[in-house]
Amino acid sequence: MDPMKIQKTILLAVVILFSTVVKSQKLAIIPQPTEVKAGVGNFEITAKTGLKFDAGNKDLKRIAGFLSDHLKQYYKLDLKQTQSANDMIQLKLAPSEGLGKEGYKLNVNKNGILITASTPNGLYYGIQTLKQLLPVDSAASAAASAPVKVPYVEIKDQPRFSWRGMHLDCGRHFFPVSCIKKTLDEMVLYKLNTFHWHLTEDQGWRLEIRKYPKLTEIGSWRDETILDSKTNKYDGIGYGGFYTQDQVKEIVKYAADRFITIVPEIEMPGHSSAALTAYPELGCTGGPYQVAQKWGIFNDVFCAGNEQTFTFLEGVIDEVCELFPSQYIHIGGDECPKVAWKKCPLCQQRIKDEGLKDENELQSYFIRHMEKYLISKGRKLIGWEEILEGGLAPEATVMAWKRNTPAGSIAAKQNHDVIRCPATHCYLNYYQVKDIANEPPGYPGLLSLEKVYSFEPIPDDLKKEDAHFIKGAQACIWSEFISTTKNLEYSIFPRLCAMAEVVWSPVEKKDFNGFKERLGTDFQRLKMYKINYCDHPY
Ligand code: ACM
Ligand code: ZN
Repeated sequence: MDPMKIQKTILLAVVILFSTVVKSQKLAIIPQPTEVKAGVGNFEITAKTGLKFDAGNKDLKRIAGFLSDHLKQYYKLDLKQTQSANDMIQLKLAPSEGLGKEGYKLNVNKNGILITASTPNGLYYGIQTLKQLLPVDSAASAAASAPVKVPYVEIKDQPRFSWRGMHLDCGRHFFPVSCIKKTLDEMVLYKLNTFHWHLTEDQGWRLEIRKYPKLTEIGSWRDETILDSKTNKYDGIGYGGFYTQDQVKEIVKYAADRFITIVPEIEMPGHSSAALTAYPELGCTGGPYQVAQKWGIFNDVFCAGNEQTFTFLEGVIDEVCELFPSQYIHIGGDECPKVAWKKCPLCQQRIKDEGLKDENELQSYFIRHMEKYLISKGRKLIGWEEILEGGLAPEATVMAWKRNTPAGSIAAKQNHDVIRCPATHCYLNYYQVKDIANEPPGYPGLLSLEKVYSFEPIPDDLKKEDAHFIKGAQACIWSEFISTTKNLEYSIFPRLCAMAEVVWSPVEKKDFNGFKERLGTDFQRLKMYKINYCDHPY
């Protein structure tokens, strides 16, 4: 080849390479996909572009509907169904080797946009990525005439973990159905698939149980709420709320339609003041008890020596299982003081009769009993890491949350599945910035965006061959100081975006600086979706 030609070829290659790099820098996908090959050019979605999918498949019909609604709402584009091979967005179910149950491929080229996956879940995640490829500048969303350009790209993507979760405490404060639905929508944007719904607490029982109506008649209301634990001031205002079974069914369906599993949590044996206020005969002293009006840990817990306690909890679980199809039922298990059990004749008798060593083993007896019941109903028990006390129930999954305990490794080494959510990295109720003067109320303490991003779910001390016991991780939101949807969103964002990258993206793709850059674009999206967020996290 003559030298001029070689020079020209090199120049061309450099230009192509450069434009590819520039293009790939513009992509702002969160969580970062497994594999992205940016192309040169854009496909433009117009009013003539069609939507292609098998309308005989009800999952596909539903998720095509979600995409279609999105394009209508934000881009004023009303796409019609098509059979054409050009100028279309196609959702296609097809075997996709190596991409698992939730993976997908997304190709954008001159012919259009093709999302392929072996399951509707995968297609749905492909749509979430596509949404992040659409323009976010306000012009595009405001004016029907603005071009909707989608950059050419080839993406292959699949999650790192199967449990990608968020927990929400609805006991300390009650969040209405509309807020729960919006929260589920927010999870979807970042490909999270598990909503851990904390439904019972000392400060309120939030789930209608038809067999035990006093749980909500009495247990869902507190007479007042502490304002300040230093001055011991209360607000003097009654507070409460609960979800009816019809509302729960509606929410469970809403979540399932979006490939989110709801794992309900019914706290036992501790954090049960509200239940005991409604049914005092289930406590060691017989009461009277009070739906808690302040925060903390309370000594009044379900009596482990009284057979009635188990009959009651099994009745509750029966209805919970009717409402929630999830494989897992969360039974709490955390922070159960043993004070009352130590003084209770029935609990002490139980310890003797069962040949138990101490109250820790009584806690283990309690959890094992509930696990047996759940297994008899075809379900699996999950509990906070305190279910390790006195020995783990045989098939229990452990949610490891404490700051300084290696519970995750301990459980995994015993061949138990583990979900990790250490408070140090996953509790989004802490403040996210140092200067809290102008921040909405939060939990004392700091959890920065960067720290969430730095979280690694596989503990250092776990052998490679045991790593598969770590099923994933989740963000947790405790609501002592969060009482409105607006403040809830503020504490979630943008830290949930960081958590999404922790649980979805390959570990070698993690890069905090790149993440921050992408987050800049994501903030515009959050604005477009009218989601509140903290805009000064670093
Ligand atoms: C917890 O934070 N008590 C699980
Ligand atoms: Zn007792």
